[in-house]
Amino acid sequence: MSPIAVSNNQRILSGMRPTGALHLGHYHGVLKNWLHLQHSYRCFFFVADWHALTTHYEDPRLIGESLWDMIIDWLAVGIDPSVATLFIQSRVPEHAELHLLLSMITPISWLERVPSYKDQQERLKSLDLATYGFLGYPLLQSADILIYRATQVPVGDDQVAHVELTREVARRFNRLYAKGDGAFVLPEPAALLTHASKMPGLDGQKMSKSYGNTIALCEPPASVEKKLRTMPTDPARVRRSDPGDPGKCPVWQFHQIYSTEDTRTWVQQGCRTAGIGCIECKKPVIDAVLAETALFRTRAQSYREQMGWVRNLIEEGCATAQQVARETLNEVRQAMGIHG
Ligand code: TRP
Ligand code: SF4
Repeated sequence: MSPIAVSNNQRILSGMRPTGALHLGHYHGVLKNWLHLQHSYRCFFFVADWHALTTHYEDPRLIGESLWDMIIDWLAVGIDPSVATLFIQSRVPEHAELHLLLSMITPISWLERVPSYKDQQERLKSLDLATYGFLGYPLLQSADILIYRATQVPVGDDQVAHVELTREVARRFNRLYAKGDGAFVLPEPAALLTHASKMPGLDGQKMSKSYGNTIALCEPPASVEKKLRTMPTDPARVRRSDPGDPGKCPVWQFHQIYSTEDTRTWVQQGCRTAGIGCIECKKPVIDAVLAETALFRTRAQSYREQMGWVRNLIEEGCATAQQVARETLNEVRQAMGIHG
């Protein structure tokens, strides 16, 4: 993607729930996109710890534990706090007030029909998600977006419905509380669709913590190597002399991300003719993943040694975010006739 020069009033907002170590799926699916965006737009990136609480309220420890790890991972991949504002949702309680005010005008049916509401309840059967907070998840997300008057929200397909809800809520708000001059208090954001990450997991399914098929961004090299060396290949290649089909092999999906055209040709020919063995075939992938993550590991290590500095810069990010959030909230209060 090439960065496009845009005017300064374009704002990007995105959040991530802290639910454990970030992995290559997050890097290829989300963070690489943030890296591009941060140089072209005014960006706000935040840790959605309240959102994590809507599903993990019974065991919130993981949230606190993952929070700083996630921030370190962001910095390690190159998210730059001198251009993007990085902050933690719960440190800007203005989100909660806007959520409450928006809840007054949001029909329950709008929330019940967001697809993720029923889907997640079905998928996460072990959690009791019949809560008020979980139903309100997408509206809290709307408050996150609207409080920064974000113009674009980078999201995957699964989150498009949440941005759509945000637009409907903004429209309803603007209609109910129009300022006399016809100006809108809450601009409608657009979804900036991140094309689905092609990052496969070690088993060929989408890389995801719940499938146990991940490589963490800062995983030790020995562990990265072992995971790749032992990952499954085309089951038809029982013996070294059996020809295989890269189309049936998760290693090939890694080559599509990490290898040059020449290497890919070598894999296609070598696999189909049994000219190369699977260990040989994996070697360039192992080298590429280790090379990609080497910088992440060193940077993460050095940030870990300067936690005071990291905490400070998040402190500053929270203050900057809060200032913007307060401005919007003041206008919202006025529009609704609440004068403090
Ligand atoms: N719901 C998002 C997710 O699960 C996280 C999130 C919370 C978010 N608030 C947001 C993303 C606002 C974009 C904008 O990934
Ligand atoms: Fe997979 Fe490569 Fe082995 Fe073919 S040679 S089965 S592509 S690992």
